[in-house]
Amino acid sequence: MSNSKTTIDSRIKRIIISEQEIASGISKAAQWINDNYKNKDLVMVSILKGSVPFVGQLMTQVTVDYQVDFLSVSSFKGGIKAATNPEILSKINADITGKDVLIVEDIVDSGKTISHVIELFKQSNPKSIKLLTLLDKPEGREVELKADYACFTIPLLFIVGYGLDYGEYLRNLPYIAELKEEVYLKESEDK
Ligand code: IMP
Ligand code: MG
Repeated sequence: MSNSKTTIDSRIKRIIISEQEIASGISKAAQWINDNYKNKDLVMVSILKGSVPFVGQLMTQVTVDYQVDFLSVSSFKGGIKAATNPEILSKINADITGKDVLIVEDIVDSGKTISHVIELFKQSNPKSIKLLTLLDKPEGREVELKADYACFTIPLLFIVGYGLDYGEYLRNLPYIAELKEEVYLKESEDK
């Protein structure tokens, strides 16, 4: 489908990254993995739930051998800003001791979620831990954390689509977009 025919959801203010841009950004990330993980023992760990479409695309484009696993972490309790400290909700099945772990995240904002995950993984003594993120909001950082690879760097906006949610919805949008302010302002008035 051409971009001009993309139907815009009524809750969306504007599209920030189109379907085509996402696809080409992910292909470049897959190439980065293929270049950097030759003859390594790669375990990609996708952070649920937002990174699922991202890791799904990567899975068919990464040609080096890898295992994939999933970790459920919660930091949002609705709303647009992480209200609590990140909470690990599940365990990974893969044994990452001595392995090259690549964390696959949807978006890094304050950095607290991934810092917490890195501390947890270090306890298993992996050979290396790197971070690949679809989106990076460096202006939101509250702890020191740098992504090893970010497909897109964006300003401090609340965005939805391509796996990213607002109150668990809008993950299905094929593009990445800014939410209309009235959507989240109305929600906070209702509370
Ligand atoms: P952190 O602030 O870096 O710990 O990010 C916490 C989590 O908040 C991320 O993994 C995302 O799931 C979510 N998040 C951060 N910014 C946004 C956004 O703009 N839209 C949707 N989810 C977001
Ligand atoms: Mg997330």
